[in-house]
Amino acid sequence: MSYQITFYGHGTFGVKVGEYQLLIDPYFTDNPSTETSPEDLNPDYLLITHGHGDHVGDAVEIIKRTSARVIANFEVANWLSAKGGGEVFPQHIGGGHDYPFGYLKLTQAVHGSSLPDGSYGGMPAGLLLTTPAGEKIYFAGDTGLFAGMSLIGEEGIHLAVLPIGDNFTMGPDDALRAVKLIQPQYVIPAHYNTWPLIAQDPQAWKERVEAETDTQVMIMEPDTTLDF
Ligand code: NI
Ligand code: MN
Repeated sequence: MSYQITFYGHGTFGVKVGEYQLLIDPYFTDNPSTETSPEDLNPDYLLITHGHGDHVGDAVEIIKRTSARVIANFEVANWLSAKGGGEVFPQHIGGGHDYPFGYLKLTQAVHGSSLPDGSYGGMPAGLLLTTPAGEKIYFAGDTGLFAGMSLIGEEGIHLAVLPIGDNFTMGPDDALRAVKLIQPQYVIPAHYNTWPLIAQDPQAWKERVEAETDTQVMIMEPDTTLDF
């Protein structure tokens, strides 16, 4: 086992790499998909893809309660620092940085990023993590399909996490096209079935992806963990 992924529903994920616990887009309190409370978690790092409320979520509470360091784009990182204090690592699109848990690069995402109080949240991002073992995990964040996904795929992706919910992000058809551009070994669908507006059938999507590509689809129930 090289890393562990925990899904909390919607776009919220935990990643355990070595001794480090990462928490991505910590949306718990208003998230109907999860039974987990943010108080249950004590992450070392908080990674935020963009400023929308369903991604910033409980970040301020977690920053105040724990020693979690925040990694996000410059605008979101500074907004969270002003609200919650703590140590922040501002990055921006295309830039990577070496952390104790691996090398993290922010990637393009085609979406918005306004913060809950209306502040400017900069550009939305995806996350491309290279673990110390050399495996690459791509969290697309909230995004539409874009041609540059093929450039991300050129890096050799072990696991991609892609939205399939439609309306706010890619739907199943474009997410299938995204898999063809990225060609990951594994894909986890996300950002669906949180509300009726983004209801999707992940099993039907899995069957299409596995019929048309070599990628294996891992459907995760909320509050479960997989070893990779
Ligand atoms: Ni969003
Ligand atoms: Mn979202």
